[in-house]
Amino acid sequence: MTDLAEPHILCVDLVRIFSADGVEVQALQGLNLRVEAAEMVAVVGASGSGKSTLLTILSGLDTATAGVARVAGHDLLTMGGRERVGYQRRTVGFIWQQTSRNLLPYLTAAENLALAINVAGTVKGGARAARIGELLELLEVAEFADRRPGELSGGQQQRVAIAVALANAPRVLLADEPTGELDEATSASVLEAMRRVNEELGVTTLIVTHDPTVSEHVRRTVQIRDGRTSTEVLRSTRLDEHGAEQAVAEEFAVLDRVGRLQLPHDFVASLELRERVRLALEPDHVGVWPGHEGAPPPRPREAAPAQGPVPSATPSAAPSADDAPRRRGRHAAPDPAAGDRPAPDGGAA
Ligand SMILES: Nc1ncnc2c1ncn2[C@@H]1O[C@H](COP(=O)(O)OP(=O)(O)O)[C@@H](O)[C@H]1O
Ligand SMILES: [Mg+2]
Repeated sequence: MTDLAEPHILCVDLVRIFSADGVEVQALQGLNLRVEAAEMVAVVGASGSGKSTLLTILSGLDTATAGVARVAGHDLLTMGGRERVGYQRRTVGFIWQQTSRNLLPYLTAAENLALAINVAGTVKGGARAARIGELLELLEVAEFADRRPGELSGGQQQRVAIAVALANAPRVLLADEPTGELDEATSASVLEAMRRVNEELGVTTLIVTHDPTVSEHVRRTVQIRDGRTSTEVLRSTRLDEHGAEQAVAEEFAVLDRVGRLQLPHDFVASLELRERVRLALEPDHVGVWPGHEGAPPPRPREAAPAQGPVPSATPSAAPSADDAPRRRGRHAAPDPAAGDRPAPDGGAA
């Protein structure tokens, strides 16, 4: 049963380790992700960051090594074979990068859809033709119903593939690089078609891609780095002083349950942070300083105005009680060791 309080897609500390010839690859290293019902989210990351691994787990084709992965009330780590087949047939729809993986080459667009509807077994008899027509119409490819994939452009093939993925009326749509083989303009139009599907059918949609321009088509983009989600960009529109709509994008660091987050590479590089950092709790933010040996600890200071899109950060490993850095607020007693040295620049945001 679906827990209404739970997001539609929930990954907590998800780990996937592949071992081949004695070599271990940690494709997912404690990934956290929440997608609410009817939301459309893009996960963006470089090649090898774990995107396909994540999607293969969410589609029920692979099982995670550890952690939690729940989709629309199904526990993907513990579900048995029977539930898995039902899950794939009725709960999720997928779109893969290779158009050839989505459609059978010797069937027309309408026949590909009919096959998918038959496999799902959700629509019977005369309602089938109507459903095929509706889906092709929704994806604006009705005029190509009688063409085989080889007689369609890449963008038309992906639109038919989206229709096929929706044939079983899934609650969740998963797409792995759906625009990977398309040019820029066609990509944009396919992503707009996915957005329309998401809005009109309310199907929860997760797209993984290396293409950062996807963020222009979704409200929320989650960055995946080294097998875990690191930052999120939320897009919204606001009215400016002249009453005109302005697109606003805000970037956030992802904070996990136990307080871990990833510092952006350029922050780490510019302050030469490594191994250990010093932290200080300020009234409204957390400061992070290089932890080089011999460096004096940071002094508490007055709250600085918030600046920059990414808040200052705690280190990516949760400190144990023993090595927890000193935490001080505005009212903490001054530390004599700090002397009169001013707090390092750039450590607090
Ligand atoms: N079946 C597998 N066996 C071994 N290693 C794998 C397997 N699948 C993926 N990997 C490795 O896991 C990492 C993440 O891969 P993948 O999820 O395909 O990344 P992406 O889709 O972001 O390019 C890579 O280092 C890749 O080589
Ligand atoms: Mg991939």
